[in-house]
Amino acid sequence: MGQQDAAAIRAELSAGLLAPHAFTAPKYLYDVLGSKLFEAICELPEYYPTRTEASIFDVHLSDIAESVGRGATLIDLGAGNCAKAARLFLALQPAQYVPIDISVDFMHEAVARLQQQFPQIEMTAIGMDFSSALDLPDVVHRKKRLFFYPGSSIGNFTPHEALDFLKRLRKACQLNGDADGGILIGIDLVKDKALLDAAYDDALGVTASFNLNLLQHLNRVLNADFDVRNWRHRGFFNVESSRIEMHLEARSDVTVRWEGGERRFERGERIHTENSYKYTPEKFVDLLEQAGFGESRTWTDPRGWFMVCHALAI
Ligand SMILES: C[S@@+](CC[C@H](N)C(=O)[O-])C[C@H]1O[C@@H](n2cnc3c(N)ncnc32)[C@H](O)[C@@H]1O
Repeated sequence: MGQQDAAAIRAELSAGLLAPHAFTAPKYLYDVLGSKLFEAICELPEYYPTRTEASIFDVHLSDIAESVGRGATLIDLGAGNCAKAARLFLALQPAQYVPIDISVDFMHEAVARLQQQFPQIEMTAIGMDFSSALDLPDVVHRKKRLFFYPGSSIGNFTPHEALDFLKRLRKACQLNGDADGGILIGIDLVKDKALLDAAYDDALGVTASFNLNLLQHLNRVLNADFDVRNWRHRGFFNVESSRIEMHLEARSDVTVRWEGGERRFERGERIHTENSYKYTPEKFVDLLEQAGFGESRTWTDPRGWFMVCHALAI
């Protein structure tokens, strides 16, 4: 679960569940099963982001590699199964690969496999929650840091939080007092509501399982008594806020108890479990510039559904 201590995690979760509109942070969707379910989501016909982002990297890899350059300290934020970074290794030839993830056990298994495949690359996996602070240990090289943040995971932050986060990344791209390094990031773009709704509420119900698995995670972490069968998944695009929202909705009146708390949820009442903000290219590049990145280069797919962006710390 990363570095945050268990009592602080329980306090954070409990406060969210007791808030007037109950919520939990999206990072809690990722225990080992959550990470595996996310891998399955990436295979779904409705979930276009992974496939579309991969196609952008395939088509524009030489351009992207030229923009990024070789020998970077490749820091993979929310690395998951590390597959996306691994596909860049040959073109980018990083000096060091630093996967970071809160779902530590899942990541460690992936890195062990990858290290065997690429013994020449120094790999330093870090289990941490990067949402509130980014304290990288000294083993992470300072030279030419490239923060790799694919999958539009930055959309889990509000635009204001995203700006703060990008500023933290920019601060970490500093070598002997000079700006050094940059960011390579994948951004999901605003599009038709029906496409977005389907991507987060698929016909097979894999996204529903991913969302509902949060309750099992809460049962373990909080010693709670959620019965998964009392809840249903809701996932939809909120056009006004330009964000996907995921919720868990009580199917009937239900009382839930956990260590240090209890709450009665009425039928239809929801726990807000994730946001995923969608951007226009201009709005996102503007955010990067406000954070201290520049010389942005962007690549999109022919339908303009997704964008990959490389920007330098300036
Ligand atoms: C949507 S998945 C993306 C995985 C992979 N990078 C991809 O693009 O397919 C988000 C990943 O970030 C991790 N994660 C989410 N919130 C995190 C946090 N606050 N700190 C560290 N890792 C986090 C999750 O465990 C998960 O592996």
